[in-house]
Amino acid sequence: MKYTLQFRIWHWLNAIIVLGLLGTVFLRKTFLSWRTNSEILMTKLAEINIEITSEQAKVLAKAIRAGMWEWHIILGYALAFLIIYRIYLFFMDKSEQESFSSLTLHKKGVKISYYIVYVTLFFMAVSGLAIHFYKELELTKDFVGSLKEIHELVYNVILYFVPLHIIGVIVAETRDEKGLVSTMINGEK
Ligand code: HEM
Ligand code: HEM
Repeated sequence: MKYTLQFRIWHWLNAIIVLGLLGTVFLRKTFLSWRTNSEILMTKLAEINIEITSEQAKVLAKAIRAGMWEWHIILGYALAFLIIYRIYLFFMDKSEQESFSSLTLHKKGVKISYYIVYVTLFFMAVSGLAIHFYKELELTKDFVGSLKEIHELVYNVILYFVPLHIIGVIVAETRDEKGLVSTMINGEK
């Protein structure tokens, strides 16, 4: 068995949750962006002779976004649990992975990219939880502000990894690693 059932379940749950988190970020930056929507609200209300200030429009636009963004936090908790589970698997899992030194240069690169992603996911979970619980943790506004900026900056690692990973897997599957994706589904070599 190349990948145990536990490991495969971890991989696919992780994939769904990370894609979901990226989805919430996408919505926040596009269709549910408060900047865009507050302007739409102001223009459309003006057309029916209701004047609101940009400050009021901002409050409304943010209220529309809020229900969606709750999912960033819900999926965020799920990610935090999955990371804990991945650490457990690191020590306990019986998947038969080849030793690092036996890998080709290319596969070493792929492995290293996974390590980078694990460290990144870990950072995203810790920083995300810290931003969310800043009051309980008694963090200063300045510190939370910087943490948010770093959380948003480091997010780019995930943003680039996900499409590269999916394209990489498809390319490998069609070339010299036939059955790579089914291995991550059925676990067999
Ligand atoms: C939805 C399409 C996806 C497919 C078809 C897919 C497929 C695969 C396959 C076949 C592998 C094993 C590759 C190898 O042996 O090098 C793998 C590994 C991995 N995938 Fe995905 N994946 C997908 C999405 C994701 C997403 C969204 C993430 C989010 C971060 C992710 C994270 C990982 C990680 C971290 C590994 C390395 C596991 C390890 O060996 O420790 N995958 N994936
Ligand atoms: C793959 C993992 C994650 C990614 C890619 C991600 C991405 C992002 C991005 C891009 C932003 C900035 C949004 C913007 O201002 O336009 C953000 C904000 C935030 N994230 Fe995450 N995040 C992840 C995980 C988490 C986790 C685990 C939590 C904790 C539960 C979390 C909580 C937050 C919070 C509280 C904010 C600040 C929102 C605000 O300013 O009101 N994130 N995230």
